[in-house]
Amino acid sequence: MSFAGEYIWIIGASCGIGEALARELAAQGATLILSARREAELEALNASLGGAHRVVPFDVADSAQVQRAAEQVSGMGTRLDRVIFMAAIYRPEAIAARDYAFTKQLVEVNLLGAIYMTYAVLPLFEQQRAGQMVLCGSVAGYTGLPGGQPYSASKAGVINFAESLYAEVDNFIDVKLINPGFVRTRITDKNNFAMPMRLEPEQAAKAIAKGLKGRAFEIHFPKGFTYGVKGLHSLPYAIRLWLTRRMRDKA
Ligand SMILES: NC(=O)c1ccc[n+]([C@@H]2O[C@H](COP(=O)([O-])OP(=O)(O)OC[C@H]3O[C@@H](n4cnc5c(N)ncnc54)[C@H](OP(=O)(O)O)[C@@H]3O)[C@@H](O)[C@H]2O)c1
Repeated sequence: MSFAGEYIWIIGASCGIGEALARELAAQGATLILSARREAELEALNASLGGAHRVVPFDVADSAQVQRAAEQVSGMGTRLDRVIFMAAIYRPEAIAARDYAFTKQLVEVNLLGAIYMTYAVLPLFEQQRAGQMVLCGSVAGYTGLPGGQPYSASKAGVINFAESLYAEVDNFIDVKLINPGFVRTRITDKNNFAMPMRLEPEQAAKAIAKGLKGRAFEIHFPKGFTYGVKGLHSLPYAIRLWLTRRMRDKA
């Protein structure tokens, strides 16, 4: 598998899965555009990859910044093969915490950020008559669980949006949805509960790289975990909600 000759924009590349994915795709020959808010981290990543990539820092929660970033990337004059939106924020917090300010920020980054990016990139893909838009949901977005928090709801929104996007865009635009299970990053480092089958970011990056070239809409891993949660989601509400209440009572 090779990404040689491809131009790929990764948003959320400054750490975690996005950074590991940048390393994986660069190792496979891609030229990258690296984005997130923290410019110094992106520059350090670029330097460690040999400096041949471009750094475009911006905040995905600000639609004007998203638009400017897309214009900057479009102005580079190269074809853009794939755009991979990995940015998100997370804080473990029960719904009962009712943190209005953080909830607003979380939805703006995780859900609105994904939508703003798609709006900004689609005209470019339409002009090229080609391109792959990749959004990152989460297994947490499959079904509402106790402790799911607004984070899971934001990811359910991303999943739904990606499905609509797939249904709506022209055939020359490919849409992919990444739904990871647990991966060891600063996100899961905040959790103090058991995280079955947790992967390393490098393992997640390899699964994503393989999936980008595959035919399936959804890239999900590790399968032993994701199929379990899919199974729960496919149950009728009467059974599913009975089970999720029992999970709460056991916690
Ligand atoms: N780790 C897991 O177990 C897991 C499971 C399921 C899904 N996911 C999803 O996988 C993706 C990557 O997560 P991760 O675990 O690698 O988390 P991470 O290490 O915290 O990485 C998140 C990335 O998003 C960027 N970001 C956050 N807010 C941003 C903003 N306002 N504008 C631009 N960039 C922003 C961060 O960079 P800056 O801080 O520099 O902006 C960082 O590069 C996320 O979508 C997450 O929801 C992760």
